[in-house]
Amino acid sequence: MKAKNLIVLLLSLFLSELNLLAAVPAILPRPNHIELKKGMIRFEKELSVSFPSELTLEGRALISWLGRNTSLKIEKIKKEKKADIVLKFEKQNQFQTEEGYSLVSEDGRIIISSYAGKGIFYGIQTLKQLIHSVDGVITVPNVCINDEPRFAWRGLMLDEARNFKGKEVVKKLLDEMAALKLNVFHWHLTNDQGWRIEIKKYPRLTSVGSYRDSTELHHFESNVFDGKPHGGFYTQEDLREIVKYAAERHINIVPEITVPGHITAACAAYPWLGTSGKQVKVSPKFGAHYNAINAANPKVYQFLSDVFDEIIDIFPYPIIHIGGDEVRYNQWNESNEIQQFMKEHQFKSGAELQVYFTNKLSEILSSKGRRMIGWNEITGDRLHEFQASDEKKGLTNKLAKGTVVQFWKGDPALMKKAIDQGYEIINSYHIFTYLDYDYNTISLKKAYHFNPIPAGIDAEQEKQVKGIGCQMWGEFIPTVEDMNKMIYPRIAAYAEVGWTNAENMNYKEFLESLQSFLVRWKLEGINYGPLK
Ligand code: ACM
Repeated sequence: MKAKNLIVLLLSLFLSELNLLAAVPAILPRPNHIELKKGMIRFEKELSVSFPSELTLEGRALISWLGRNTSLKIEKIKKEKKADIVLKFEKQNQFQTEEGYSLVSEDGRIIISSYAGKGIFYGIQTLKQLIHSVDGVITVPNVCINDEPRFAWRGLMLDEARNFKGKEVVKKLLDEMAALKLNVFHWHLTNDQGWRIEIKKYPRLTSVGSYRDSTELHHFESNVFDGKPHGGFYTQEDLREIVKYAAERHINIVPEITVPGHITAACAAYPWLGTSGKQVKVSPKFGAHYNAINAANPKVYQFLSDVFDEIIDIFPYPIIHIGGDEVRYNQWNESNEIQQFMKEHQFKSGAELQVYFTNKLSEILSSKGRRMIGWNEITGDRLHEFQASDEKKGLTNKLAKGTVVQFWKGDPALMKKAIDQGYEIINSYHIFTYLDYDYNTISLKKAYHFNPIPAGIDAEQEKQVKGIGCQMWGEFIPTVEDMNKMIYPRIAAYAEVGWTNAENMNYKEFLESLQSFLVRWKLEGINYGPLK
């Protein structure tokens, strides 16, 4: 053997002795630091778990999972030193956020520690994937994991304005999000085709706005309708139940009330909300509609303030989504009232009025202690062909500071522009993250290779990329089976993009880690799309 080859052989023996070459266990999303040690832990008959009372929620959830997924006798014990699995707070650790955790399994015990319940919860999600159960014996490899997410915001959006799915479907999605360490459920609850959230002060929003008499089929502009009524909404009681369910899984809910466009269902309930003031019906047709809110009417701002009061009472997360996408300015251009209002404010373009309106909402929300997020039209950038004539009219005002911009459309350079102006962004660029796009357009592989960091920003500015979103728009997914096929398995790719540092990502290993999810999804009847 040549000396060089011998050195390589010796080096690899040495490395394998250190277990650096050993296969890394299949965990999805891939942890950011994982060291596999020699050997494994076996549990044959019983297993004890200890946790402090502050971790009761997480501890009980783990015990219940172990009970369902193993045949061992599971016991909660007080004495940490005697327990097989220990959940505990660790104040002194290396993590930047409450989501970081460490999981150490060695010497026959497993210890999960973190600053906070969130991290412990994520450590448990990792542990579930490390546990192998065969013939009543469970094994866990000896490992040392120190892990925390790349991005703080790891979101999934569900649009139920277009097709109402209901509480149980949402809960199931929250379960799957939690297993994948996704932490923001962005809930698109209002649009032209339905208003799905009970607002007690304005009961017609749901008594009228949550039902339509027909639905457009197949694709945009098909003009083929099913002629069947569709409806549904969440009572405030339902919403509180879901908020609690999500919180138990360390998921924040960001409700979206879409204004000033996409408001046809609200106008059907209260025509004075719209610029035309005309009675309209909840739209059976999809696409961007012309109804735009009457931004000159003080009653509209009072309405939104009242709606936010009820929303804030239900949803504790400090950020509220106000939509802002695809506003057609035609009604504003045609309305004497709006034109007069614009003259008074020296606005020349629809975008200026939209920025003004959006900033009013920001004021209302911040007076109530909340922060605003909206789709990237709220910056005043014109993203659509139908805004071409508005673009010539210029833009003199600026979106309120502190607003989070959810980038979905337009030149990616607009992300850098927003970041340069000091905004935080969520990257939901449609060509990479829209779950309603078919697999020919966004394959699993393409979803996995989504790079959330826009070109041209520096390392310090990367911190302004708060996170990522993937979006399940609901126009043409009437059934849960259709919906699941679009969400799964791509949701897993987005989860890894959101959690795992770019240098630790590997598509081949991701596909291997996905296997256990596929098996479980199949068992649970979750329809999933192609693995290409
Ligand atoms: C959007 O897709 N209209 C945000």
